[in-house]
Amino acid sequence: LEAKFEIAQEILELKREKNAVILGHNYMEPALFHTIPDYVGDSLELSRVAARTNAEIIVFCGVRFMAETAKILNPSKTVLLPSTKAGCSLAASITAEDVRRLKERFPGVPVVTYVNTYADVKAESDVCCTSSNAVAVVESLQSDTVIFLPDEYLARNVARETGKRIIFPTLDEGTLGEPYQMIGWHGRCEVHERYTVQDIEDVRRMFPDVVILSHPECSPEVVEASDFAGSTTAMIRYVERTNAPRYLLLTECSMGDNVMAAYPDKEFVRLCTVRCPHMNQITLEDTLNALKLGRHVIEVPEDIRVRAARALERMIAIGP
Ligand code: 13P
Ligand code: SF4
Repeated sequence: LEAKFEIAQEILELKREKNAVILGHNYMEPALFHTIPDYVGDSLELSRVAARTNAEIIVFCGVRFMAETAKILNPSKTVLLPSTKAGCSLAASITAEDVRRLKERFPGVPVVTYVNTYADVKAESDVCCTSSNAVAVVESLQSDTVIFLPDEYLARNVARETGKRIIFPTLDEGTLGEPYQMIGWHGRCEVHERYTVQDIEDVRRMFPDVVILSHPECSPEVVEASDFAGSTTAMIRYVERTNAPRYLLLTECSMGDNVMAAYPDKEFVRLCTVRCPHMNQITLEDTLNALKLGRHVIEVPEDIRVRAARALERMIAIGP
């Protein structure tokens, strides 16, 4: 623990020396989350901070698509990601070519992409969204039909909340002839897809007074069986403003640890089997090396960056 503390101290000194800002996603391990970031938050909050920072260097303690988003919104800054292995199963589920093919197949239909995608996929989209504003973004388009990529479950959850009928051309070709208002893709978050309604029923049997919070990357059945669904920060705020006898968070493990540390007087049921293997790549040691050695620099080709920035800025303008 002392060694960790020393590394954190060294990071804080280097950060000042180099005029760097450290952004940390809610899924960072506790030793990192509680020590070095200037800002912590969900993807929307961190993209807003990235867009307006005056620091020369942004060190992103999160995954690659988040660091890319920071670079797209703030191209004159150096953006560093401490590990090259911090990917995301959703971002890996779709390519720019896949989006171009969908646009050819459904011409004129606006494309909404979740921020959990790489820059070239964002560049093919009209507007981005995060888990905290997906419904608002879809509703803002006022279009009869919307292409919503690439998270199958987030898409199903948005469709459920907005009362829209959804089809998945790659999954259920047979229903294409029927009327629909959303067109989805088959990407999944490898962490959230693992939670089941059975998990919820088992916990409710043991703790009938438990309040269950889930992330909208969970299946619609899990979201429906939960008491609340929202982005990582929305879940934290829910815990902050309510006084339930106990909570269960159906999301990534480290966030559970961070929330428990932040609210020592509240009770939590742990059902934690899933640590995101990508977020897990980001450690204090690698963050120190990122600052020391100026690595790993995130670059986005300018032609792609300009188009991706349009989709991101459109999302930020919608709010909330
Ligand atoms: P949030 O935008 O809710 O922080 O989600 C990001 C993410 O990767 C969840 O798995
Ligand atoms: Fe991607 Fe899921 Fe990890 Fe979030 S938790 S970064 S969506 S794999």
